[in-house]
Amino acid sequence: MVLLTGNKKIKTAVFISGTGSNLNNLIKFSKKKTSPISIDLIVSSNPKSEGLKFAKIFSIEKKIFNIKKNADEKRLLKTLKDKEINFICLAGFMKILSKNFIKNFKGKILNIHPSLLPKYKGLDTHKRVLENKEKFTGCTVHFVSSKLDSGKIIIQKKVMIKKDDTPKKIAKKVLVEEHKLYPKAILKIFNP
Ligand code: GAR
Repeated sequence: MVLLTGNKKIKTAVFISGTGSNLNNLIKFSKKKTSPISIDLIVSSNPKSEGLKFAKIFSIEKKIFNIKKNADEKRLLKTLKDKEINFICLAGFMKILSKNFIKNFKGKILNIHPSLLPKYKGLDTHKRVLENKEKFTGCTVHFVSSKLDSGKIIIQKKVMIKKDDTPKKIAKKVLVEEHKLYPKAILKIFNP
């Protein structure tokens, strides 16, 4: 990926819909000297996202885009272009981006998913993992393609499942690993 110019960090937007713990973690990572990215914009699909608090805490600009219609996505694309955003990290973003949107940021959108893809794409991953009596699950960082949770895998981490695990307990364990994995994936693609 040839995005790095001089010592400047790559202007990045993080897209969220909920709690934003991955966003918080990415912001902290972006402030390190070793980080190739800076976080310049937070986009939320939900005006009530808890994660929007990090915009205030870290003085980062935030925008709400519901992306229901083509026109919303066009406005979002324009905002990203105006702000010279060159890279996007989806972090608990629960909307599906259109083919056109992805084409505009080809190879420059990452997503984190709470399963060992290609297994358990979509929602309720931990519940389905338990129902299928899996021995382990995990998380994946991948490039975003036009098919849901299907782009090229960058990195994965396994998490063991214990007998007394519940979807909530698994989500907590997986999230701990997600916070380590997302920065690792970013370092991997920019310093292969
Ligand atoms: C994370 O577990 C992330 O992997 C998942 O939502 C959670 C968001 O947590 N993403 C998906 O399920 C996307 N398909 P966060 O808001 O605390 O970062």
